[in-house]
Amino acid sequence: MRMYDLIKKKRDGGVLTEDEIAYMIQGYTDGRIPDYQMSAMMMAMYYQGLNEAETLTLTMEMAHSGDLLDLSAIQGVKVDKHSTGGVGDKTSLALTPMVAACGVKVAKMSGRGLGHTGGTIDKLESFTGFHTDITTEQFLSQVNRIGIAIMGQTADLAPADKKLYALRDVTATVDQMSLIASSIMSKKLAAGADAIVLDVKTGSGAFMKKEADAAALAREMVRIGNGAGRKTTAVITDMDQPLGYAVGNALEVREAIDTLSGSGPKDFLELCLTLGSHMLLAAGKADRTEQAREKLLGVIADGSAREKLAEFVAAQGGDADMVYHPERLPEAALKESIPAENDGYIEGIVCDEAGICSLMLGGGRETKEDVIDLSVGIVFHKKKGDAVRKGEAVATLHANDKAKLAAAKERLSRAVTISAEPVAKTPLIRQVITQA
Ligand code: URA
Repeated sequence: MRMYDLIKKKRDGGVLTEDEIAYMIQGYTDGRIPDYQMSAMMMAMYYQGLNEAETLTLTMEMAHSGDLLDLSAIQGVKVDKHSTGGVGDKTSLALTPMVAACGVKVAKMSGRGLGHTGGTIDKLESFTGFHTDITTEQFLSQVNRIGIAIMGQTADLAPADKKLYALRDVTATVDQMSLIASSIMSKKLAAGADAIVLDVKTGSGAFMKKEADAAALAREMVRIGNGAGRKTTAVITDMDQPLGYAVGNALEVREAIDTLSGSGPKDFLELCLTLGSHMLLAAGKADRTEQAREKLLGVIADGSAREKLAEFVAAQGGDADMVYHPERLPEAALKESIPAENDGYIEGIVCDEAGICSLMLGGGRETKEDVIDLSVGIVFHKKKGDAVRKGEAVATLHANDKAKLAAAKERLSRAVTISAEPVAKTPLIRQVITQA
């Protein structure tokens, strides 16, 4: 077999066989197929697309290109959750202790990530001493013992995807539906869970700006997951404004703790209940959505979800007292509010801009080497459609540097718009997809 012939076949609209895709992925992972040939293949795939069988084969080959996490030592159904990402997305921080408190086994690999805030691991490091540097044995035994553990992504999980994603990033071939779906799902399949719940975001702050595109991506991922024998559900959710009120690492941790204490933002709680109920259904911990929601609300009301977070933080070396005393979380020195310029209704909060302002304050990384300031960020006081009076604070910036604060404040003021006329609220949960 020759890579040249495979590129030509795809370029001319042909369908690659299982053997051809296996040859290509194994060869690329080993370094036998050079970047320039793979770049040409990615561009051919970008234009010609992949059919369902090709997409599934590509995903399985990438999933099997490195280590597969073997979760069989954990008793019960293991359920994973993945979000395509957005501004203020602190879902894992509240959702995983909620479902673990309901008896679902959560064995999660998370990342740090570039962008407007850190990833789940960075956020969790707001708890003094918390670390994810644990062996696979410790990870498995912690899940069996307390029902929840989070570890960093090992280098050898789906290495083909790691290489390919980096190549796609510099060859303008990221935004192809089948390539995105296979990239995300290869990592999820390699991470070993029996069932997967996907939160696919849509709107100005999401990868997929249009709901129809988000739904198409979701269907593709559900098809792959179910095709690979993992029960997969996708929920399409709004990312046209930041999720909840807080954007920034420790600020988001605090909001997650508030949610576990019963005083979190309505939209964020609703997202946790929706995703959580599908996780409970997948794990066989509930038969109906309503019953699952009641269980999830129950573990908030009786305090066991918050206790589960404290238990999890302590198990991974963190100061669990901060879960009960969030005022001990990292806090910025400077706080300044943005007042509404007029009476009216919040017309919109440009999601991407809110993310950039958090990054400008030091809350995220632009390069892998950047050090995050966990204490900075933004707390909004209003959501789209809320009434506001002239002079009332619409957001408060948390900063440690006067110049950064001034620049972010100026930019954020332009990202929040007010209308004199009432504005309709945007629904958070758009669609649930269980079958492609
Ligand atoms: N996230 C991924 O992991 N892969 C993609 O291709 C796009 C987003």
